[in-house]
Order: sequence, then structure tokens, then C-alpha cells
Amino acid sequence: MRVTGTGHASMRIDTAAGSILCDPWVNPAYFASWFPFPDNSLLDWETLGRVDYLYVSHLHRDHFDAKHLREFVSKDATVLLPEFPTSEMEDELRALGFTKFLRAPNEQVVELDGGLKIMIQALTSPTDGPIGDSSLWVEYDGVRLLNQNDARPTDLTVFAELGHVHAHLLQFSGAIWYPMVYELPQAAKTAFGKQKRERQFDRTWRYIDDLKADHVFPIAGPPCFLDDVLWQFNDIHGDEGNIFPDQSVFLSEYAKVGGTNGIVLLPGSVAEVTTSGATTTHPQPVEEFFANKTAHLEEMRERKRGVIEAEKASWRHPEIDVLAGMKRRIEPLLDESIYLAKGVGGPVRFDLVGYDGAEVESIVVDFPGKQVRPYADEKVRYRFRTERALIEHLLHIDEVDWVNSLFLSCRFSAARIGQYNEFVYAFFKCLSTERLQYAEGWYDEHERAVDAEDVTLGDWVVQRRCPHLKADLTRFGIVEGDQLTCQLHGWKFDLPSGRCLTSVGHKIRAARTPTP
Ligand code: FES
Repeated sequence: MRVTGTGHASMRIDTAAGSILCDPWVNPAYFASWFPFPDNSLLDWETLGRVDYLYVSHLHRDHFDAKHLREFVSKDATVLLPEFPTSEMEDELRALGFTKFLRAPNEQVVELDGGLKIMIQALTSPTDGPIGDSSLWVEYDGVRLLNQNDARPTDLTVFAELGHVHAHLLQFSGAIWYPMVYELPQAAKTAFGKQKRERQFDRTWRYIDDLKADHVFPIAGPPCFLDDVLWQFNDIHGDEGNIFPDQSVFLSEYAKVGGTNGIVLLPGSVAEVTTSGATTTHPQPVEEFFANKTAHLEEMRERKRGVIEAEKASWRHPEIDVLAGMKRRIEPLLDESIYLAKGVGGPVRFDLVGYDGAEVESIVVDFPGKQVRPYADEKVRYRFRTERALIEHLLHIDEVDWVNSLFLSCRFSAARIGQYNEFVYAFFKCLSTERLQYAEGWYDEHERAVDAEDVTLGDWVVQRRCPHLKADLTRFGIVEGDQLTCQLHGWKFDLPSGRCLTSVGHKIRAARTPTP
């Protein structure tokens, strides 16, 4: 089995029974904030795009690049489609010209022509990607590969049960706006970023240990930030709180925990994976590339300046009345929302900075009051500050997912009172009736689900499943004193009170073990 690195989470898998192109991403995403790192735009995409199968793991724009799919990927390719709750991905791909779809039943092995086998695991909670993320397992001639991508299943048992895996490709770096955009003192930001960076690595080691594959390939990040206003997010400034470590940092951190089977793929690297080993060739020596990372980014920044400027010029729509537009889009959804609105529980304020960089329009999405209105000098739960032009653009293109556009762009700052509130972001990624209804139904089901089983962890009897996304706490729970940490996403719980210390809601059932 041949695996060609094509940048970020993208790869092309070639076997004698057919080829699969995964997640090709080349054009900047999220308001021109993210670019693939290392640069993959100079690859021979005409050739790479001539494939038998296309697999897009989810709709995040660093995985689903509509422009690139339209221009470079063969429309004869059969799309391997995860079993997602909505038809959005299929609809978007059809609009791009794809006509052949294979809907892979969730977690079931499908045999394709010539003995090529695949299995797709779709994750479908409202917090997984844009309502859905997925992983692809491939087997040909005894060689097994898992492209876990940036999916976060509670464990990898379903793949491990299919036999020993030879190549495991997974995310290790950050892909979020926390903590950089928060209006916090620099020392606090650094401390939170450091914790986050460590947690990302811990999670990666756990997945690697779960599967024990022969070879581990760090993929799906980090992106690079080429706009001058975002340049500081690149991990080239010696900031220990930077959440975007690169593949070379992965190798050195992995070595510290005894990992010796890591393989970095640069765009254009080719790994030939067999049941007995892997040989990899690179377009240039990997160490040499990372030693010159800053120069690579600076050169790329100059080359892409025009692309960023052209994108920026398309965002302004002065004819749009933002308050009226937000009212029209959001108020009907506030009316429909029960769980998400209750979960947010308070007003969320948007401060929109005008074209002159000075004038600010303050708009409140009032979740309890179910309306969008001008800010009325009140206490708010969250406050976001961003350019008015970005919201104009979102309204202009009728964007239903403001996480997959505004928030991932990192082109905003945020402040909040109290804990992180997942419902805020869940709501703003569900700005369509279809998505909102799905998310409401999901929370409804999970609130009702009786989670009766308890387990003993140290001096505590706690519910077995994590109140966040149901991870098995016998595997992921660590009790230190009176605090439990679920290592899957790092959420913490105060055991005496049951209170979740990471997010609003999500109480855990816990009691001290009875003394004999
Ligand atoms: S499942 Fe996410 S922290 Fe436990």
C-alpha cells in the first residue's frame, strides 16, 4: 500500500485495486486565516486528482475544499460517504459535480472492487466537527491503515478488532481558537496554552497506545497563518503556550515517551507500507525542512499575500443591515431551541467594529428572551469582538455554521463570565433548522439516557461514563484528591459537589467509597 502525503490531513492511498484521495485541502480556509503547512499548492494536483475514490472526512473547510474539489478531483471518482445524520456533505459534493456515492454503513466493512476493503466510523454528536467527523480504515492484501484524521472516538476498539494495523495516521496538534483569542493577561494565556498543548499530546499517546500500529504518521495539522495580523499563531516564536506544535515537535515529544515509529510525511513524501515495514522517500530531508521552517513560512507569506488581499476585498457588504440580518437568521432558531438556548442560559454580545476600525455596533443574542436586539448595557455571558465586515459576509452567503467560518478564523477576541459553555458554539454551528433540530434531538436523547452504571476510582464511586461525551472513565478517568479528570478531552469534575469545572452543566454522579 502506498501512501503519498499531500499536506495537512490529506493523503492519497494507492493499491493495485484502486486509489483513494482523502481530504485534499489547498485553498485558504476560514476567512483566509488557515493555509496548509507545509505548502502543498505546488504539487501535481492534476495527476493526484485522477483517482478511483474520494473520501472527505467531514465538512470543516480544511478538509472540504470546494474550489479544489471542483477544479482538480475527477468527477468519475466514487465518493466514500460517512453515515452522517444530515445529507449536507452529499448535497455539497453533488453541487460540485460528483455523481457516484457509496454510503458506507457505519462501522461496517465494505468490500470494494479487487479486494480493497474499507470501513468508515462516523461520529455524530453536535460537538464532533460540523455535526459529524469520521475516520477511514483501509485494508488491501493484508496491509491495514487507519486514517483517524482529527476524529476523537472514545476508543479505537472497533478498528483494533479488525486485525493489527500497520499505518495509523492521526492528529496531534491544535485546531481551535482557545486560548489565543481570549482577552486574558499574557501569563494566563501562556499557562492555558501550555496545558492545552500537553493535553493534545497526551490524547495522541493514548490513541497510539490503543492501536499499537507499526507506524504512526502525525497529520491534520498544524495549519499556518500567513496574514500579518495572525502571524503570531505560528509556532516559531518560542512560545511554550502555542497550541500549534508541528510534526518535528511531535517526533521529539513522541521520543520522550519512548515512541520510535513516527513517520512525517511532507507534501510529496511517499511511504510504501507492507506487513513487514515501511520505506519512505521525501522531496527533501525532513530535518532540513523543519530547520528552515521560518524561511518557508516567510516565503509562503509573500507568495500568498495577493490571495489574502483578494479574499479580504470580498467580505464587505455595506448594503447589509447586520442587526436586521441577524434577527432574520437567528430569531426563528431561538424560538425552536430548547436545550441549546437553556444551555447557553444568558445573553451573548457581539461587538462589531466598523470599516474605520473605531465605530462599534453592539448586538445581543438574547437566549432567554429569544430575540436579537441592540445591547442594553447588561451583563452578558459571552462577548465576541470582531470586524463587522465578517458578519456581513456570513449573512451575505447565508452561512449556517459560524464555527466553521468565523470562530475557526481566529479573527475575533472573546471574553466570558464563568466557565466555557459548549452550547454557545453548538448553537452557532447550527444556524439552520435541519442542524438545530438534529442537535436538539441529540441533547434530548442524551439528557434522558439513564446512565446507571457506577465504577470505583480510587476513593470514589462515580458514574462509568463521562458526562461530556460518554468516555469510559475506567479508561480515561484519573482521580487526584477530590478531582476527576477525563483525559479524552481533559474535562475536570469536583467530586464532592459533582460540579463540572470545565463547562456549564454536565454534573457527575459521585460518592466516596463507603469505609468498611
Ligand atoms: S468524554 Fe470528553 S472529557 Fe470525557
